[in-house]
Amino acid sequence: MKIGIGSDHAAFEMKEEIKAYLKEKGHEVTDYGTYSAARCDYPVYGEKVARAVQSGEVERGVLICGTGIGISLAANKVKGIRAAVCSEPYSAAMARRHNNAQIIAFGARVIGIDTAKMITDAFLEAEFEGGRHAGRVALIEEIEDRERAENGEEK
Ligand code: RB5
Repeated sequence: MKIGIGSDHAAFEMKEEIKAYLKEKGHEVTDYGTYSAARCDYPVYGEKVARAVQSGEVERGVLICGTGIGISLAANKVKGIRAAVCSEPYSAAMARRHNNAQIIAFGARVIGIDTAKMITDAFLEAEFEGGRHAGRVALIEEIEDRERAENGEEK
């Protein structure tokens, strides 16, 4: 699978480990930065990975910052993107099965590397179930459309 990965400085080391892990598993991984442990701003990397998913450059995204929160908030500002912050594998699988999330996020200061790998596996292995869940995901997209309409933007 084509996977985009990104992090800020707080999660640089974990990103490198997850990147290597995904490559070992045979995935094609594109690293959108950051490329060192120097202090940087998480929204930059959240947006980069989210845009890569939006354009179809990659199928799924993995985002990591200190908590996973800031970087996922940034990714979720990109239209059509659903990034889910998870600290355990059950929610990661459900983020695919029920929410059709394309991006998983977690916090390098919250969980350890083994849990991060389990979360990543659970997310990548699960599939969207569609059905009644598709209608609910469509309702999320309608919120985006209403926001844009209210702001006089085109759909
Ligand atoms: C950086 O110190 C930290 O704020 C960031 O990694 C993240 O946790 C933000 O949500």
